[in-house]
Amino acid sequence: MKVLGQQIQDSGLRYRRAIAHLSTDALLSNLSVIQSMARGAQIIAMVKANAYGHGIRSVSQRLSQHVFALGVASIDEAIALRAHGIHTKIILMEGVICPEDLRLVSALALDLVIHEASHLKWLAAHQLPLNDVWVKVDIGMGRLGFFPSELSSVLAHCRQLPQIKGKLRLMGHLSHADSPKHDHNSHQRAVFDQLVQQFDMPSSLCNSAAISAFPESHYDFVRPGISLYGAAPSDASWSESSTALKPVMTVKSRLISIKNYQPGQGIGYGHDFVCPTAMRVGTISFGYGDGYPRSVRSGAPVLVNETLCPLVGRISMDMMTIDLTHCPSATVGLEVVLWGDGLPITSVERFSGISRYELFTNVQNRVKFIWDGV
Ligand SMILES: Cc1ncc(COP(=O)(O)O)c(C=O)c1O
Repeated sequence: MKVLGQQIQDSGLRYRRAIAHLSTDALLSNLSVIQSMARGAQIIAMVKANAYGHGIRSVSQRLSQHVFALGVASIDEAIALRAHGIHTKIILMEGVICPEDLRLVSALALDLVIHEASHLKWLAAHQLPLNDVWVKVDIGMGRLGFFPSELSSVLAHCRQLPQIKGKLRLMGHLSHADSPKHDHNSHQRAVFDQLVQQFDMPSSLCNSAAISAFPESHYDFVRPGISLYGAAPSDASWSESSTALKPVMTVKSRLISIKNYQPGQGIGYGHDFVCPTAMRVGTISFGYGDGYPRSVRSGAPVLVNETLCPLVGRISMDMMTIDLTHCPSATVGLEVVLWGDGLPITSVERFSGISRYELFTNVQNRVKFIWDGV
């Protein structure tokens, strides 16, 4: 076992088949792009869903000193962060799913989002001190939140609960921020603005798309997710500053085989692709079992020695095949880029119909995650 351990150490990470390189510099640079767009609004960094697949502990550790709070979806994510020694404010974006979890909310000093009548009952019965409570209002999203007409009585209820030691804050979410010209935006923003004026509370409305599209609606706190990781939320919803975002994750693997085929040879399962001419085809050790979707179509680019080479044939669980005919310099063992630095994730999105959000969060943990920078 000792010999094996030494061998693994000696080989370092050179022979890992599938790697996600993560850049601290890119993460911090994206944060500062967002900070300059936010013009004074404080940042709630969304680290839910394992920091959009980038690793919740590593990302939070790098951001925690620089942001107002971290946004998580579940109490388990909050527990993991506190266990990792992160003391920054953490907001439970979906609130709790049972009254018992409120004990953990108090014990871990979490901020709580409330959005449901049952939350009010649970809060009233809860004895331990609570941090800030964010009252979520449904301004037309049709998902979580009290209706605007309920807000006055919800706030009155919360204000008479002595266990809420922190502040009461207001949170809304836009349903169409990634289509900034859509009519729903102006209506929902007007509803939220009216509530902010009426109740005069610290407030938060904007995700990445809205930060870029609606600078006049930033209020006190903004909640970027995807933009922190270096991707614009959608092609329509991000201004020219998108060029300033840098991909935090670069997914790489290696060529494990290169073969020359005659015209008419089918490639891989089902022979979805048949060589129209003589072709040089490379096999990469990365498949849907690593997080490269099976639905990506032939033609999707892979970066090989600075040349974009098209995917050919069906993605397998552990492998994928590319046309290397126009990349004579490619050799077995060569590292290739599937998305990230030099190859935007949107180029994979275009060939699969799978959103950049899903591509990031689909990366599996058998891929080796390696951070560089400070
Ligand atoms: C309530 C809320 N705020 C902010 C965000 C961040 O959104 P984005 O990743 O588009 O910036 C999300 C993400 O789903 C969310 O649910």
